[in-house]
Amino acid sequence: MRPFVLTSLLLASSLVFAAGCDRSSRDVREWKSTDHDQPLGQQPGQVAARPRSSAEQGPDQSLVEIAWQRNCASCHGQRGKGDGPQGPMMRAPDLTRSDWQAQVTDEQVADVIRKGRNRMPAFSNLPDPVIVGLVGRIRANRSP
Ligand code: HEC
Repeated sequence: MRPFVLTSLLLASSLVFAAGCDRSSRDVREWKSTDHDQPLGQQPGQVAARPRSSAEQGPDQSLVEIAWQRNCASCHGQRGKGDGPQGPMMRAPDLTRSDWQAQVTDEQVADVIRKGRNRMPAFSNLPDPVIVGLVGRIRANRSP
């Protein structure tokens, strides 16, 4: 009795397996170029549930803060007033001055940080989102 049950089970499962193979082989369609037009992990008609991009979110603020303390505060001070330990010696300008802030664009500020100018060292090694964050930090410390 037992061997018979076992054999029929094996037979049944192999039949199911064969049927499955048969069905899937008929399902294979010809590849179309449109198959690759869908973004990864996204079904047609589905709205992408993506995380907010770094551009919307802004760079990690703690990262920007660390970058400021490490690279800028020694000359420009905590708020950017140019009162860091090396500020007077380097003649670091007061970045909080609203007349200066009004005459420079974010892009120009970012450019000086990246390329440096005179005694202001270049920070081309800082990633772009951090540079953008530093510009934002300078803007946030504008004097009234
Ligand atoms: C070694 C001192 C020093 C350090 C460190 C330093 N700066 Fe400066 N920074 C200066 C000096 C000096 C100037 C004036 C350059 C000039 O125009 O002659 C300046 C100018 C600037 C300006 C442009 C002001 C203008 O007139 O357009 C910005 C913006 C600025 N620094 C931001 C930063 C940021 C952000 C950091 C850190 C990533 C940084 N600085 C680090 C000394 C420093």
